[in-house]
Amino acid sequence: MEKKYILALDQGTTSSRALVFDRQGRIHGSAQHPFRQIYPQPGWVEHDPREIASSQLGVMVEAMVSSSVSPDEIDSIGITNQRETTIVWDRRTGKPICNAIVWQCRRTAPLVEALCGDRSVAAMVRKKTGLIPDAYFSASKIRWILDHVEGAQNLAEEGHLAFGTVDSWLIWCLTSGSVHATDVTNASRTMLFNIHTGKWDNELLDLFGIPCSMLPEVRPSSADYGVTSYPGLPEGIPIRGVAGDQQAALFGQCCFESGRAKNTYGTGCFMLMHTGNIAVESSHGLVSTIAASAPGTSRLEYALEGSVFVAGALIQWLRDELGIIKSAQESEALALTVEDSAGVYIVPAFTGLGAPYWDADARGAIYGLTRGATRAHIVRAALESLAYQVADVARTMEQDSGMRIDELNVDGGASDNNLLMQIQADILGAQLNRPAVIESTGLGAAFLAGLNTGFWEDLDEIRSIRAHDDHFLPRMDSLARKQCMAGWHDAVRRTLSASD
Ligand code: G3P
Repeated sequence: MEKKYILALDQGTTSSRALVFDRQGRIHGSAQHPFRQIYPQPGWVEHDPREIASSQLGVMVEAMVSSSVSPDEIDSIGITNQRETTIVWDRRTGKPICNAIVWQCRRTAPLVEALCGDRSVAAMVRKKTGLIPDAYFSASKIRWILDHVEGAQNLAEEGHLAFGTVDSWLIWCLTSGSVHATDVTNASRTMLFNIHTGKWDNELLDLFGIPCSMLPEVRPSSADYGVTSYPGLPEGIPIRGVAGDQQAALFGQCCFESGRAKNTYGTGCFMLMHTGNIAVESSHGLVSTIAASAPGTSRLEYALEGSVFVAGALIQWLRDELGIIKSAQESEALALTVEDSAGVYIVPAFTGLGAPYWDADARGAIYGLTRGATRAHIVRAALESLAYQVADVARTMEQDSGMRIDELNVDGGASDNNLLMQIQADILGAQLNRPAVIESTGLGAAFLAGLNTGFWEDLDEIRSIRAHDDHFLPRMDSLARKQCMAGWHDAVRRTLSASD
């Protein structure tokens, strides 16, 4: 039967999704299921790996069935996933030995401090991995599991335990345990992988006391990861694309060359800029990470990454805690009823401030309220605060990379908000490109798979598929932009924990 589709599995932090893409990169079918978030203690976040797998395999079938696609019509599978989340299972049974420790989980912060607190150690980790030592990444989570699950250290030393990020776990499940592999982008988020040599690093493994027998084999993002062979699932579909969700989105946005950047507006924002074959060392606390490459690329490619902690979460807060909007969608209509925020600034430092401020103790604030301030002004100020934070990260990336961001490719739920996109273009002073299909993450994984099998011929074909963008051009003059940014920076300065 003619191969007409690529199946993308997008395993996210709060839900598992499956998307069926056609040759034009259009969504032909999809399905999505949320799954349980487990909070055993304040600051701890877990997932049940069996629920990750069952929800993902469930939506895989549902997406095909609900769109009347037969497994024979699927060319291949691309997998993309929440990154860093750590799963350890017994190779003999395929059973996880405990819950997955999610990227958001802070339980290992003291462990990271103990192991990487020394400046020279931190510098070594940073140099090799491109990351800032933090509980966010997988290494300390594996250490925690080996320390706290009874008998785990021994089992690991005997070679019985396997570690994987969510991609590895899904590949293991889909292939009934015949493939234990990950891709370079996911490996680069573990803090055990040397991003320059493209190999697991013995010095880092020693630092965290992790036996290398636990680790998956690392492959390129567009490569052969075996075929599906799970009881009850369609047999023999090749798995040919794998990438962490942010790198998949960068690829899905056709950011293949140095200087091209994307920003995903989710609960927070993740901005990545492709930096070609150079792993840029940030002087402002951004991280360097491996970017997904097309098949046949001989040298590793990199990206700079910066994140905004609170983006869509601020709109949810306006809805759920302040109750001044009924839905996220209403934010656009309400903010459009006023011309500006009338001098109101919101600094949504609910969990501190990230790049370039790095102030974990800062807390949120609203400034500039007058008797005339209305809820419309506050909502508009909230949208503006998203744009200001993204602009701060973008300017930091420009400084670190020496490249200017003239265009920013946007995606994620809130990129639907036309007013936010216009404000962003104005504040950034750059053109925004929004693709017709904002599911860049799933599409990126599909591209990686389809390029590997020859479903799509090359990057030019991919680019032609992605040509139908909405564009937002900056309309604000540079003086007004400077004044707005000055007001924002003044608000941030007053919010920093060291200010009085
Ligand atoms: O690094 C964490 C990131 O990969 C999670 O993304 O979209 O699942 O929240 P998301």
